[in-house]
Amino acid sequence: AIDANFEQNREIVDEHEGHDVWGPVEEPEQLGIHGTHVAVDFDICLADGACLEDCPVDVFEWVDSPGHPESEIKADPANEAQCIDCMLCVDVCPVDAIDVDAG
Ligand code: SF4
Ligand code: F3S
Ligand code: ZN
Repeated sequence: AIDANFEQNREIVDEHEGHDVWGPVEEPEQLGIHGTHVAVDFDICLADGACLEDCPVDVFEWVDSPGHPESEIKADPANEAQCIDCMLCVDVCPVDAIDVDAG
């Protein structure tokens, strides 16, 4: 599962589509965590797609991740500022790849 304390345990190493990327990143095998309020651990995501289907405000968009061992697409929190903290994505992800900081 994604580390809920990633903001303490990781460092921002990049920016992607307006959100932070928390390392370590070693492409293509290691992609880190994308987003902060809505955080997706790309190294855990296996492209189930439930988060894209269920998010009521379309926070997620697919991005390509060719060569990653888990999946060749990832759910990117492209519109994390639109999140309404419903926690549906956290509940439906089968591998607990998503953390939403609703505090
Ligand atoms: Fe979308 Fe709800 Fe997840 Fe926010 S908590 S990203 S609104 S499903
Ligand atoms: Fe990935 Fe979980 Fe969404 S596996 S596509 S973050 S439901
Ligand atoms: Zn991203």
